[in-house]
Amino acid sequence: MKRISLLETAHEVVIRHLSAGDFAVDATVGNGHDTVFLAGCVGENGQVFGFDIQAQAVETTRQRLQVHECLPQVSLFHGSHALMAEFLPKHLLGQIAVVMFNLGYLPGGDKTVITDTNTTLLALDAAYGLLAEGGVITVLAYPGHAGGDRELVAVEAWCQRQEAAQQMRVEVFNSSHHQPTAPLLLVLYKLSASG
Ligand SMILES: C[S@@+](CC[C@H](N)C(=O)[O-])C[C@H]1O[C@@H](n2cnc3c(N)ncnc32)[C@H](O)[C@@H]1O
Repeated sequence: MKRISLLETAHEVVIRHLSAGDFAVDATVGNGHDTVFLAGCVGENGQVFGFDIQAQAVETTRQRLQVHECLPQVSLFHGSHALMAEFLPKHLLGQIAVVMFNLGYLPGGDKTVITDTNTTLLALDAAYGLLAEGGVITVLAYPGHAGGDRELVAVEAWCQRQEAAQQMRVEVFNSSHHQPTAPLLLVLYKLSASG
């Protein structure tokens, strides 16, 4: 039996919600795999905005985009995703179709540089503001490393507040080996103001 990874599930969700010409955000570009994927979905008439606090991640992503010939439709920022609303053009407020978060540390990089709970929550607030109605935020979270557990609890609480306020609908995907330390995928759909 083929085992579908949570990353593949996230990509399947994104494919259903992104069309050529759309705008998307990769909140954690890392090694650039998700950025290339998003750039392929939006095509040359769309635009992807990518963020990472590590210069190495931004450079690796830039090179990967170049190899895949999709650098022109991507704007990369060496900065925190908490500031995404400040970096994006103002006219795109409420126009973003998808925001992807892949939390934790850079694979193959410095494992002490991880996403931070407070910053992640600020980034989720910013992402919600940027998102179009019907738009989607995907959050791949890793509670297995120190700090990742606390971050997931905080992100889940943020999701619950969004649901209680009827601002978002939340779907949770567990790993096939469901344990408290296993990765988790949260898919958040922005509801329309009219319900
Ligand atoms: C799991 S990796 C991302 C993997 C990536 N999506 C890929 O396809 O290769 C997490 C990344 O988040 C970055 N990061 C940590 N804090 C951040 C922040 N405040 N803003 C933006 N990126 C951050 C890390 O530097 C790291 O590269």
